[in-house]
Parts: sequence; structure tokens; C-alpha cells
Amino acid sequence: MAGDGRAATRQQTPALSSEAPSLGGAAGSAEQPRLRWVREFWASTLGKKIVVAATGVILAAYVILHALGNLKALQGPGDGEPAAVDQYATFLRDVGDPVIPAEGLLWIVRAILLAALVIHVVGITQLIKRNRAARPGNPPVVRRTLASRTMALSGFLLLAFIVFHILQFTTLTIHPTPLAQGAVYANLYGAFQEWWIVAIYVAMMAVLFLHMRHALWSVLQTAGWDKPNRNPTFRRGATTTALLVAGGFALIPILFFVGALPEPPSASASASAGIEAPG
Ligand code: HEM
Repeated sequence: MAGDGRAATRQQTPALSSEAPSLGGAAGSAEQPRLRWVREFWASTLGKKIVVAATGVILAAYVILHALGNLKALQGPGDGEPAAVDQYATFLRDVGDPVIPAEGLLWIVRAILLAALVIHVVGITQLIKRNRAARPGNPPVVRRTLASRTMALSGFLLLAFIVFHILQFTTLTIHPTPLAQGAVYANLYGAFQEWWIVAIYVAMMAVLFLHMRHALWSVLQTAGWDKPNRNPTFRRGATTTALLVAGGFALIPILFFVGALPEPPSASASASAGIEAPG
């Protein structure tokens, strides 16, 4: 599948490069406005692919760190003190304080992630449009691979999931189960007692696996590191990384649902944080 994608990418290049402004010309001229090379880089198909890959790496790095952070839920509800995952969430809010105001670093990271996500989605959408424009009418000049179609769909599903997920666990706007600010363990416990919430999360982690596996492999191709003798290792590496991340995430809802993780002392969680009523 990935191999097909690569072949398609190579076939597309001549058709698309004719639309792309030259990078060297703009960068080399002293009269050009300073930021012109950025515009021209973004306007070129290769430049867009590099930006999409770079922003994808930023997003993947966040997803890997987030999966590792979530695994702190496996340490349970805490023995007379806040749960490890709650302490970790507090640390993320307070890190840098007092040099940086509380939540300052968190907001910087949020701004970087949001910018990376917007640029990633805009870049991908434009590349897809450009691909379609390069083959007007039917039959297609370039064979659209199953992988590329799956990437657009899985990316769209992940975007919808992220919106739902932030509205649920960060802003606490959607609360089909009781949620409290800062009580991450109790929030997860409550949410993942509901089979349909578990089903959404586990299904979305399968989508994340598919998206990440192909994305990691594509990044290596965009970087030009793919070589026939290395590709099997790269493919295995992409599959293993995506499996570990998606599997690590999926473990949390599953373990809460099957009762492998203990119930939090709900009274103390509610008292310290103020439970939001569901609905
Ligand atoms: C089973 C899977 C997941 C669980 C249990 C989970 C859990 C959580 C929790 C509890 C929070 C709120 C943390 C806090 O209040 O401090 C959160 C925030 C967040 N999650 Fe997830 N997450 C999962 C998967 C994902 C995935 C796959 C993505 C991205 C593709 C993601 C992106 C985010 C983002 C962007 C935030 C907001 C962070 C912030 O700005 O505060 N999560 N997640």
C-alpha cells in the first residue's frame, strides 16, 4: 500500500512541478521581498509536502507524549494523595511558574499545536485539490491509492474526534458522565464506565493507528530516506510505533471499562474540584 503511494507520488511530480514556482529563483534574488521565499515555498508542491510532513511530526510528537502521560492513569487513584495522572496534569499547568505565569507554557504549546494542526490540514487539503486538478475528467491520470483515500478519511475522523475529545475532557462542555476540573482520573473512570464512550475511543484509536502508520512511513519518503534495502525496516518501525501509541491509548478506556483500574474516592474528588452535573 505504501509502495503504491510512493509510485503515485513519483508519477505525479512532473505534472505538478510545472505549476510550482521555482524555489531557487526567488530565494536567490536580493530584490525580492524577504518573505517571498516562504510564499513560494508554500506555493510549490514540494514545499507544501515538506510543511505537511514537518507539522505532522509536531503533531505526532504531541500524540506520543500524550499517550505516555495517559499511562499514568495505570498507577491508580492515589493512596491518600491525588492520582498520579492528576499530579501530572497539575504539573503541566504549573510548569515554568513563577518564571512564566501559571498555564503560560501550556498555552504556548496549545498555540503551537493549533497552528501545526491548521497548517497541516490546509496543506493536505490543497495538495489533494492540486492532485485532482492534475487529472481533470476521467479516467484519472494518476492512480489514487487506497492509502491516500484512507488518509483523508482517517484525518477527517481524527479531526472530529479531537474536537469532541477537547470539549469532553478539557473544557468539560460535553459531559454525558460527571466531570470535574483537574480530577483527570475520576473523569476518565466515570466516562469509561459507559460502553459507547469506550467504543468511540477504541474505534478512534484504530483510526489513529492507520493514520499514524501511513503518516510515519510517508514522512520518511518525503525526507528522501527511503531506499529498497531500508524500506522493510522503516515500514516495520512505522507499524510498531503506531501500534504502541494507539494500543497505549486504547488500554486506558478498556482497563477502566473491565474494572481493572480501581474506583476513585469520588467524595474527595468532588469536594476538591466541584462536580459538574451531567447533561
Ligand atoms: C484513549 C485515548 C485518550 C485519552 C484517555 C485521552 C485523555 C485526555 C485527557 C484526560 C485530557 C485532559 C487533560 C487535562 O485536563 O489536563 C486530554 C486532553 C487532550 N487530548 Fe487526549 N486522550 C486520548 C487520546 C487523544 C488523541 C488520540 C489525541 C490527538 C490525536 C488527543 C489530543 C488531546 C488534546 C489536544 C488535548 C487538550 C490538551 C490541552 O490543551 O489541555 N487525545 N486527553
